[in-house]
Amino acid sequence: MEPTTWIWMNGTFVPWQDAKVHVLTHGLHYGSSIFEGLRAYKTARGPAIFRLREHMERFLYSAAAIKMVIPYTVDDLCRISCELIKRNKVEACYIRPHATFGYGVMGLNPATAPVDVTIACWPWGAYLPHDSVDVKISRYIRIHPRSTIADAKVGGHYVNSIMAVQEVHGTKYHEALFLDYEGNIAEGPGANFFIIKGKNLSTPPPGMILPGITRASVIEIARNLGFSVTEKTLSVQEAMDADEAFFTGTAAELAPVGSIDDRPLQVPAPGPHTQTLKAAYLDAAYGRDPQYHKFLTLIS
Ligand SMILES: Cc1ncc(COP(=O)(O)O)c(C=O)c1O
Repeated sequence: MEPTTWIWMNGTFVPWQDAKVHVLTHGLHYGSSIFEGLRAYKTARGPAIFRLREHMERFLYSAAAIKMVIPYTVDDLCRISCELIKRNKVEACYIRPHATFGYGVMGLNPATAPVDVTIACWPWGAYLPHDSVDVKISRYIRIHPRSTIADAKVGGHYVNSIMAVQEVHGTKYHEALFLDYEGNIAEGPGANFFIIKGKNLSTPPPGMILPGITRASVIEIARNLGFSVTEKTLSVQEAMDADEAFFTGTAAELAPVGSIDDRPLQVPAPGPHTQTLKAAYLDAAYGRDPQYHKFLTLIS
């Protein structure tokens, strides 16, 4: 991790190394924290944050899911993020808003715990730096939507993802793929999943997944490029028979999938449609396509 100078913490900008919490912080013990992940891109008009407002809205949605009161509005959080990037003088970075039930009470009910809110940013390159991601279906299933509010980004949920990532770490596979409790495709540990057949894209519907902001952006871009997009239940067989497949996520951006459980897809990755979509997504993120300037918040 490449440190920057400042982290915003509970209302003030503090030096990176001083942004600390107590070891008895509630969230450290029970995963009672929430977070977001965003990217700022270097554009011709200066650094710009991709879909800032949507991420901050989801941040507050995740907080509400665990009855955490954040004393900042979406507008506040957007303004602070821009100010943080300005102060840290970075041209491109990953941004990590985080809030945790803090120090003061232990036990499972955090109702009286204080809430610590932070926003940090640092330069972070590609999360899946491959043109052809080899995928292994995880032995773990994606968290069940009746066990929790599964579309909130709650810290504790991510033990599920960590275990899937640990399963493929050190193997020939680059990434894991979760099935849902019915054995259909859900998503990656930190990214959504699409298949392409002809000019049709399919992706699992909201319900079993974290419906990503990149996913929504790629759906819009794909439709504008003349692809049809269907949100539907995807069987493993359908995924394996696909022409192409890819992951989407803020960290992963758009990552082509080469094989699933050692079975290469019909078209060698990166396939032509995936490449078209990836180029269009990056054009949007880097501010090269005026049609999608609406996705960007300029820092200056
Ligand atoms: C489980 C999971 N699925 C999908 C995504 C992709 O979401 P987004 O595109 O909003 O980054 C993420 C990342 O936030 C995630 O953690």
